[in-house]
Amino acid sequence: MMPLVFTLLCLCVSKRGGFSASVTQAPVQSDVQCHDWGVRSEGSVRVYDGEVAYLYCPLFSYPTLYSYNQTQNSSLSLLWYRHTHTHELEQPINLKLHTLHKDREYLWIQPASAQDAGLYICMLRNISLCVKIGVELKVVQKDEECDRTAQPHLNLTVPLQSDQTLTCPDLNTLTLPNSTHSVSWIHLCRFNRFRGDRELKGDNLVIYRMMEPYSGLYTCVVSYQMNGRTLQFTRSIYVIPVVPDFGSKVPIILNPASDQIYTVTLGKTESLSCRVHLPHLYGEKQHIWWTIDNKTVEQLADPRYSSPEARLVSYDYGDELRERILNVTDFSADDLQREFNCSARNSRGFNTSRAVLKAEPYVPTLALGCGLGVTLALMLMMFVIYHVFWLELLLLYRSWFGSDESYTDDKQYDVYISYARNSEEEEFVLSTLRRVLETEFGYSVCIFDRDSLPGGTITDDTLRFVGQSRRLVVVVSPCSAVRGTQALLELQAGLTSMLHGGSLRVVLIQFKPVRRKSWVKELRRARLALTLVRWKGEKSAPLSSRFWKELQLELPMRRNTHHTHHTHTQLPDITQHTPDTHTKNTRQTEEKLIDPYSTSAL
Ligand SMILES: *[C@@H]1O[C@H](CO)[C@@H](O)[C@H](O)[C@H]1NC(C)=O
Ligand SMILES: *[C@@H]1O[C@H](CO)[C@@H](O)[C@H](O)[C@H]1NC(C)=O
Ligand SMILES: *[C@@H]1O[C@H](CO)[C@@H](O)[C@H](O)[C@H]1NC(C)=O
Ligand SMILES: *[C@@H]1O[C@H](CO)[C@@H](O)[C@H](O)[C@H]1NC(C)=O
Ligand SMILES: *[C@@H]1O[C@H](CO)[C@@H](O)[C@H](O)[C@H]1NC(C)=O
Ligand SMILES: *[C@@H]1O[C@H](CO)[C@@H](O)[C@H](O)[C@H]1NC(C)=O
Ligand SMILES: *[C@@H]1O[C@H](CO)[C@@H](O)[C@H](O)[C@H]1NC(C)=O
Ligand SMILES: *[C@@H]1O[C@H](CO)[C@@H](O)[C@H](O)[C@H]1NC(C)=O
Ligand SMILES: *[C@@H]1O[C@H](CO)[C@@H](O)[C@H](O)[C@H]1NC(C)=O
Repeated sequence: MMPLVFTLLCLCVSKRGGFSASVTQAPVQSDVQCHDWGVRSEGSVRVYDGEVAYLYCPLFSYPTLYSYNQTQNSSLSLLWYRHTHTHELEQPINLKLHTLHKDREYLWIQPASAQDAGLYICMLRNISLCVKIGVELKVVQKDEECDRTAQPHLNLTVPLQSDQTLTCPDLNTLTLPNSTHSVSWIHLCRFNRFRGDRELKGDNLVIYRMMEPYSGLYTCVVSYQMNGRTLQFTRSIYVIPVVPDFGSKVPIILNPASDQIYTVTLGKTESLSCRVHLPHLYGEKQHIWWTIDNKTVEQLADPRYSSPEARLVSYDYGDELRERILNVTDFSADDLQREFNCSARNSRGFNTSRAVLKAEPYVPTLALGCGLGVTLALMLMMFVIYHVFWLELLLLYRSWFGSDESYTDDKQYDVYISYARNSEEEEFVLSTLRRVLETEFGYSVCIFDRDSLPGGTITDDTLRFVGQSRRLVVVVSPCSAVRGTQALLELQAGLTSMLHGGSLRVVLIQFKPVRRKSWVKELRRARLALTLVRWKGEKSAPLSSRFWKELQLELPMRRNTHHTHHTHTQLPDITQHTPDTHTKNTRQTEEKLIDPYSTSAL
């Protein structure tokens, strides 16, 4: 059923079209398969809505396969079909419509409207052969009188200073149904009057002397009459100025230059760059390539060598600067002996230039890298050391550069310990704090309950002892808040002395966590100005713990040498108050005093 309809339609169409090929033979055999070439590869044909469209059967773009003249001798007929979205099948086009017109290998649509858009198929067939190909027609709206963004139908390079005649594309190849037609020209959608260097001559526009301002888009509109209607089509040419066509056009190799040295590093991937100035030549492909010992990369077929296509670096009126890279992976000592040449060729000549290579020693970069690495590592180490051992560093610093307060004052005690008189704190102060400060660090310690003589006024004695001490160490506890206690009296004495410019400093020790709220008013006020050292139970017990180091930092500096001096400067009237045990203690520590700084982690 189908082939029959097909054949009938074909017959009908070719008769209507006035096609001369004879199709009077017996019906076309159904077994002739039509070879489908798909859709034109150059893309679709664009036409403005309301203008004339003409479709060229793309089969004839391959003149070695098909030429229109030859079809007559092979009794081949050319048929046009349409593939619409509404119809699954290809419909033979209706040439009765006055807008459609077939002329040799062209199909005219005069004029085209939006409905005409779609896929057109041209088919060439005789009894034994059938081929077909599609071509897409796009109908676009012309927003403005002149379309600035139009895709040019032709790119035309024109040498500066030379003359050029612009002919509207397709005007001469088409046989217009009416020989009377007119052509109008417009440049850049702005200039349509041409004077001086440019002039309209018949259908053409002549440029007598090409200049930069004459470049860009030229649009031509061809109008003619048919059946009493005015029809038109629009074409555009993009004019590109190029350098005048004289002088040597031999490629010039800029790199490798004769005095250029390429430094390479053995064992690394090296990229050798070749830059060539390619003068403008019409429609010619010019070549740049690398050779290694007069062999191209392709000839060598060694995966160590690769050379991507040349890259356009700059474009100047048709002259091009192109770069081609040769990558050599794992550059070897043998490669140094090879001859790396970059060559360039066009129809005017050939040039080659050798890349002179020099190996850069690998070791210095390694050493430099190492040096940098070592420096970084050292910096990192010092950073870590500082953050981990800053307490030790401070103590060490103080032991070297600090000054001994006992030289400049005449106080009797280094430390006065103030504490709440309850069992836990008392135990800590008497058995731990006092012991370490006196026997391990060699401080002279004043503890009121131990060192005061019975009989005196408590208040006076307290003030006197505090005044005779360089530091007041307050063991903070909830009980020290209780009004009227000895601890509060000591604290008040210390704070008063400190706030009034006395040479006493108050140091807080937090024996057990105490809520800030339960602190006495005096303590809370002074807290910000005071250092708080926290006792962390068992962890703080060893002499190397943070607690003792922090505390030591707050206490007066101790040198091995100053103890003798210190004992001699004790005031006579106070000495009699000092119990024997205490003096003995101090004496003992003088002998077995360990230098705390030398035992630090550093
Ligand atoms: C086809 O024939 C026409 C005359 O019929 C002739 O002018 C034209 O040059 C021929 N084309 C080819 C490609 O042979
Ligand atoms: C077609 O055939 C005629 C004679 O039969 C011959 O003169 C002509 O050259 C042929 N044309 C082509 C294009 O082969
Ligand atoms: C059909 O066309 C082909 C190709 O041109 C040709 O070789 C063949 O002879 C033609 N067949 C007939 C029956 O004319
Ligand atoms: C003209 O040149 C432009 C840009 O180089 C390109 O996109 C376009 O395809 C060319 N047109 C023709 C017809 O060669
Ligand atoms: C050709 O154009 C002229 C005017 O430009 C018109 O008078 C004439 O009728 C046209 N001929 C045809 C066949 O349309
Ligand atoms: C090759 O180019 C150099 C400049 O790079 C030029 O001096 C030399 O004449 C050129 N050789 C040939 C054969 O063109
Ligand atoms: C390089 O090889 C080509 C053939 O591939 C040869 O014609 C040319 O003389 C050689 N050049 C040198 C300098 O050996
Ligand atoms: C060549 O080397 C360059 C840089 O060294 C790199 O970007 C490029 O990808 C390499 N090309 C090939 C083909 O290896
Ligand atoms: C490589 O270039 C130099 C000029 O730099 C040339 O003398 C030599 O013949 C070239 N070698 C090859 C193999 O082309």
